[in-house]
Amino acid sequence: MELTPELQEKKRLMIDGLKKTYKVQYDAVQPIPYIKDRLYCVDKVFVEGGVEVCLAPELTRDTGGSWERLEYYKHIYTDSRLNSKRRIIQGEPGYGKSTLTLQLAYDWCNEVWNSSMRKVDILILLRLRQLGGIQSIYRAIKIFLLADEPRVTIDDIKNIIQNCSSVNIILDGYDEYPGRDGNNNNDVDKMIVMELFQNVDVTVTTRYLPKRLIKETKRAKLTGFDDKARDEYIRKAVVGDNEEAVEHIKRRLYENSVLTDICQVPLIFVMFAHMAHDLKQFMEFTSVTQFFKYMIRCFHEHLKRKLDDISAHYFVSVVMTESYLGNALRFLDPVDLQYLYRFACGLHPMLEKTHQPFA
Ligand SMILES: Nc1ncnc2c1ncn2[C@@H]1O[C@H](COP(=O)(O)OP(=O)(O)OP(=O)(O)O)[C@@H](O)[C@H]1O
Ligand SMILES: [Mg+2]
Repeated sequence: MELTPELQEKKRLMIDGLKKTYKVQYDAVQPIPYIKDRLYCVDKVFVEGGVEVCLAPELTRDTGGSWERLEYYKHIYTDSRLNSKRRIIQGEPGYGKSTLTLQLAYDWCNEVWNSSMRKVDILILLRLRQLGGIQSIYRAIKIFLLADEPRVTIDDIKNIIQNCSSVNIILDGYDEYPGRDGNNNNDVDKMIVMELFQNVDVTVTTRYLPKRLIKETKRAKLTGFDDKARDEYIRKAVVGDNEEAVEHIKRRLYENSVLTDICQVPLIFVMFAHMAHDLKQFMEFTSVTQFFKYMIRCFHEHLKRKLDDISAHYFVSVVMTESYLGNALRFLDPVDLQYLYRFACGLHPMLEKTHQPFA
């Protein structure tokens, strides 16, 4: 349906408002979580990590089935094997799901010429951890994306979205969604099972598969950084074309096989790369154990950063106090990398199956 001139104008205001909000977000990628004043534009640091597409026609809850590599993240929206109005992008903690959504937002805002986002009229990117208790997607858009644009109301948003032919919705972090798997019959639930927005492209990123999914849902997963991605990251985000500095970081990385393995995780690798370059102190770590203990503090920051904007102040202020952390660190076995990693990402290893943050 044609928009009235008045709604056309509102749509323009809405798009401008969304772009402003996304810019603040994509300009604030923070590779070392505890250094808050070192923020990067996503496009200046983003590299192609591994993306695979699931070939299984049926939805299985595990990661079984056969997977094939996609060459570029941009193909998530164009590859025929992922052709559907409902898509899931799975990835372990720290594998780059949120960063990928920011890159897509960047592509949309800047009309990047070879991006499928260029053809999208309106991109809605919401962080699911913020949407607890919110029934209406239009209200969520107003509160989290257009709070600074008083000329666009919740009703305007609804009218525009319902009458716009090309809307793309990305919901980031289903595992962090307070209403996950709850069958609350709100707009998020309805979108996922296609009771709402049948003709709108909806992508959900998540660490694990939601319980209720429709069979049309296609899946991709992020598999982390291989050698090529790491090399590219060091050059693009850390040292530029300074060959000597590139070699220095790589030497540090490959001198310990444990480190090499765990640096497949983008969250860990980017911290490692920046620290290896920046910190004299880094050279003084006498053991991998010390290095991991140091990293745990960084992970703790990664977790706190997420919790800042959800109603979980109790969790941060009472449970995750310095003394709690100090105690937990004393008893951690740094050889158990899985444990460290889960701990850092807010998942207690024992509770992981229920996907609850530990407390
Ligand atoms: N493709 C990438 N290019 C460059 N840096 C990346 C990339 N993916 C991830 N990173 C870095 O790793 C950090 C962690 O990634 P991100 O927060 O996107 O992971 P996630 O999968 O959303 O984790 P979680 O499950 O905890 O939400 C980012 O802050 C960013 O610095
Ligand atoms: Mg995330």
